[in-house]
Amino acid sequence: MKIITVKGYKELSETAAQIVLQKIEQDPEAVIGLATGSTPLGLYEELAVDHQLNGTSYQKITTFNLDEYVGLPADHDHSYRYYMNENLFTHLDIPKEQTHIPRGDAEDAAAEAKNYEELIQRTGGIDLQILGIGRNGHIGFNEPGTSFSSITHLADLTSSTREANKKFFDSVEEVPELAISMGIATIMRSKEILLLITGKQKQSAFEQLTKGEVDESFPASVLRNHPHVTVIIDEDAKT
Ligand code: F6R
Repeated sequence: MKIITVKGYKELSETAAQIVLQKIEQDPEAVIGLATGSTPLGLYEELAVDHQLNGTSYQKITTFNLDEYVGLPADHDHSYRYYMNENLFTHLDIPKEQTHIPRGDAEDAAAEAKNYEELIQRTGGIDLQILGIGRNGHIGFNEPGTSFSSITHLADLTSSTREANKKFFDSVEEVPELAISMGIATIMRSKEILLLITGKQKQSAFEQLTKGEVDESFPASVLRNHPHVTVIIDEDAKT
């Protein structure tokens, strides 16, 4: 794991943007895996500004998001599809049909998960996957105890994750209990992974990521087995 330490959130976002832009420059048809949550918002802003200033083209890029809440339709303002449209896609020239997020309102969520996994593999897999990390070590919605061999599946959210995500909702009761999430094996098949860690509340997660055992009780620990992971972390999260 290569670890890049930066001063603060702005530098973290700029450094992450440089890595994404470099990938797109090397391969204008790259398949990029995306995350939601608070952490990548600065990165998405940097990409939007770069597109405006430098015209980086996303016309041949394909994206796959990590996850989506079950039960929320795409136009629900708390769905991850809505978040991605608002925070990134509408600011780029990427054709909407090349942006993939599981459908939260699919009639058969399990079938949707299966189809999503197949689509990722049919597309040739993910070239660069962006990740955030939960305080309990979750990546995507793969909570502690998720099998390292899991593929895209229906995932139960723990109460601590629902609590952490209530910032996007009016109350914790409104946070869905189920999501469709890429599995750990899906994430690990990505050719390259970029993990972003920011803020004091992630200190112990970083500590466990780097010093704890590689074990399913701390899902992100699996990344230590991946040959090409870059972690960008700010000083708040590191000390
Ligand atoms: C989001 C996701 C989650 C978040 C994690 C950290 O698509 O899959 O694993 O990356 O919950 O969230 P924030 O960035 O809000 O601290």
